[in-house]
Amino acid sequence: MGLNVEKIREDFPVMKREIHGKPIIYFDNACMTMRPVQVIEKINEYYNEYPACGERSSHKLGKRVDEGVDQARESLKKFIGARHTKEVIFTKNTTEGINLVANTIDLNKGDVVLGTDREHNSNLLPWQKLASLAGTKHEIVDPNPDDTFSIENFEKKMSRDVKLVSIIHTSNVDGTTIPIKEVIKIAHDHKALVLVDAAQSIPHHDVNVRKLDADFLAFSGHKMLGPSGTGVLYGKEHLLKKMPPFMVGGGTVEDTTHTNATFDEPPDKFEAGLQNYAGIIGLGEAARYLMRIGKDNIQKHEIALNRRVTDGVGDLVDIIGPNEPEKRSGIFSFNYKKVDSHEISMMLDEMENICTRAGAHCVHSWFNAHNINGSCRASFYFYNTPEECDKFVDTLKKVIDVVK
Ligand SMILES: Cc1ncc(COP(=O)(O)O)c(C=O)c1O
Repeated sequence: MGLNVEKIREDFPVMKREIHGKPIIYFDNACMTMRPVQVIEKINEYYNEYPACGERSSHKLGKRVDEGVDQARESLKKFIGARHTKEVIFTKNTTEGINLVANTIDLNKGDVVLGTDREHNSNLLPWQKLASLAGTKHEIVDPNPDDTFSIENFEKKMSRDVKLVSIIHTSNVDGTTIPIKEVIKIAHDHKALVLVDAAQSIPHHDVNVRKLDADFLAFSGHKMLGPSGTGVLYGKEHLLKKMPPFMVGGGTVEDTTHTNATFDEPPDKFEAGLQNYAGIIGLGEAARYLMRIGKDNIQKHEIALNRRVTDGVGDLVDIIGPNEPEKRSGIFSFNYKKVDSHEISMMLDEMENICTRAGAHCVHSWFNAHNINGSCRASFYFYNTPEECDKFVDTLKKVIDVVK
């Protein structure tokens, strides 16, 4: 049975809003999703009922915060299939999770970190920086001639020097997903660790860290119904234990003297200072909401929407990525001739409140390598409707009539 989207939409207050007498068609979900009332209420609950500090204060309000954070960590553990809550570190986004690993993992001069040709800047710059500071190397797997991920090229790249594969799971440029389980198996056969950038996969696909055998996995809460500025870094417990803390300060130590410190166990040693308690507690609620909806349902629905848009307007534009919508998850990224993607995106917004994203989507390296300035990206989620897709198709045709 499909999703009851009409009922689901009742959970999202923003969907009742109109701007200049027209509803908002939100197709910028790869950047940030909307939030259901359940998440908003959970954030408000914190501020209204127990807006205190966690893990330090033994008063009743402090204990409520601890309970809220523990419950959220337990939900996130379940959401990704981790073994233990110790393996769930709260961060402010995917970027922070990847930086945490880049700043604490034991890599030395000559060690290679391997990625694809379409890593988000957040999974490229930390490795470029490490290369310049520590003499490591960042190398790239060439794609297939049709520009899809090549498992053969990946395997060829795996040498004894590759110590870490830090790799995108689903691309925010074209929506394609790499065979991550196979990638992890090959990397482990070569004794390399794997960090999965799951920012674009976790909101849409079932991602189970134990089944995948991922060593690290980073994602953002705001791309999966959670509060903005929230995220998670998963790491296998034995690896996290060996790693030094990234940020140090309050909450990370068991004890200090004027000259020394003994650090806590994970996750505490990686969560320095007072935390975004409202955000963490709201993120727990977002994970529970998504578990109720089910990732299979989400995927089926957004691929149906992507097919509707591809059938409606795919022949008129240049699609970034494969033509088949099944291979692009919820992403329809395109260009019309040489027209600036920002112009198209702005016209869609001005004409019908259609929110898309234009530009290089923080993957400048891929666009530069292809000599393309950027793209206009429509990205769907389970609360979007076929009618919204039809409106997008009609409006894009009108935009094309104007700019052609
Ligand atoms: C694939 C991918 N990785 C990393 C990020 C960075 O996410 P954040 O800005 O939430 O840290 C994004 C954001 O768009 C992304 O799409």
